[in-house]
Amino acid sequence: MAFEISLPARGTTVRTTLSESAPSGAALLVPVAHGEDGIEVPVTALAPKGLLEALVAVGAKGTEGEVTRLLIDDHLVTAFGLGDASEIDDEAVRRGVGAAARALNDVERAAISAEFGVAPVVEGLLLGGYTYTGLKSQAEVQDDENSDAETPQTTEVTVVGADEAEYNAAVIVAESVNLARDLVNTPANYLYPESYASVMGEVASTAGLDIEVLDDTALEEQGFGGILSVGRGSSRPPRLVHLTWAPSDASTKVGLVGKGITFDTGGISLKPGSGMEDMISDMGGSAAQLAVIAASARLKLPVRIDAWLPLAENMPSGTATRPGDVITHYGGITSEVINTDAEGRLVLADAVARACEDDPAYLIETATLTGAQLVALGNRTAGVMGSDELRDLIAETGRGVGEQAWAMPLLEEQEDELKSPIADIRNTHNARTGGMLFAGLYLSRFVPEDIEWAHIDIAGPAWNGGAPYGYTPKRATGAPVRTIVETLSRLVDKQ
Ligand code: BES
Ligand code: MN
Ligand code: ZN
Repeated sequence: MAFEISLPARGTTVRTTLSESAPSGAALLVPVAHGEDGIEVPVTALAPKGLLEALVAVGAKGTEGEVTRLLIDDHLVTAFGLGDASEIDDEAVRRGVGAAARALNDVERAAISAEFGVAPVVEGLLLGGYTYTGLKSQAEVQDDENSDAETPQTTEVTVVGADEAEYNAAVIVAESVNLARDLVNTPANYLYPESYASVMGEVASTAGLDIEVLDDTALEEQGFGGILSVGRGSSRPPRLVHLTWAPSDASTKVGLVGKGITFDTGGISLKPGSGMEDMISDMGGSAAQLAVIAASARLKLPVRIDAWLPLAENMPSGTATRPGDVITHYGGITSEVINTDAEGRLVLADAVARACEDDPAYLIETATLTGAQLVALGNRTAGVMGSDELRDLIAETGRGVGEQAWAMPLLEEQEDELKSPIADIRNTHNARTGGMLFAGLYLSRFVPEDIEWAHIDIAGPAWNGGAPYGYTPKRATGAPVRTIVETLSRLVDKQ
């Protein structure tokens, strides 16, 4: 495994290897699409004779998500649906392979051809095969009655005929996504600011990153009033983690910021109990940025990256911040806390202000920031705000890698709603409209004019509360790791 880190449990996924041929006895993973005249199977070195006829005989349709298991001569075959034959793209391959990977539990060895695209095949396998059973003391067995059960993955899949460099890069990206998933899936009694910062130290040493951890004393000394105010209600003090990847051939400089609320109760503005357990995912933005900077280092991306990750637990208590309190952010902007459940923007404001002091050409920040994001865009589509060009690049890049994203505006008419009678700004606007955009506008106040920046609200996309689909498992998804890694490569190409 790529990252040896101290967590009570990790997710499991298939193991992949690279080879010129399929090992004998391996189950063959082959695609099937539906065309105008019925199903079509792409001609591939690994397709056994009689595949098409056999699939027709069992009524396979080739629809997306369909997985058909057959025995042809002596070969175990798992056929995965790609959907419409005229619309096959990387995402169709990732989803089809992902669905196949989830159905491999009881198979020891499998093989797949890299002809359908090295990266989508590898990502489909490693991302789709991922499953997290946490601290269950015994694996549940998947049977017809218990279709929901998840058994740890042990299958070894040989990827046949892939270019080695492409293969290695895809493995790094997929392992990084799964690292973010592991962190987000970890319960908050195990993952809290101090333990999370120490896991970041482990990741940093594996990936070759510099790390500096600011504890509560350092935060006090340097004036990080937003992070301190959110962490104040918890017996577990906050942290700010600074990670650096500084290659000698860097062609540009990027700042990364990610929300690291290890649990969000809402604080004194307490959330309702129903579904509150999902708030272990409120550190998803910071987990994604940790995964991004680690992937960038392992991929040796020629870009200087400074990640600033604010970590805090938002709890109600006698020492917690109250509605009506006024806090002073890093850099001096004051904020009236109207609602202690709008805590993400408070910790992010400090981290964004600090990240901008490094004078990056681009600043990319991501957070599980607002319930309003889910209202506006649903569960799977991130809202992207910020400077026009970077915002649009990220939204388009997200859609390109299969992490849905959409550009959203910052509204002039909400400027007035930011005003407070007793502070520079206030953290909520007491309106039912445009909550995601208001949060974006709040953050924009901490970014100087000359820095291109983007804010990615992943409240919905970071967590899959439903059944697995394509290459997305239940619970943590690892979004938007692949979007940001791909954006960084595009920014490098632009230089
Ligand atoms: N962490 C939540 C946002 C969230 C909601 C993430 C649902 C994932 C799923 C955030 O801290 C929050 O509570 N936001 C409030 C802001 C409000 C008080 C202005 C919200 O969206 O309700
Ligand atoms: Mn909250
Ligand atoms: Zn939150």
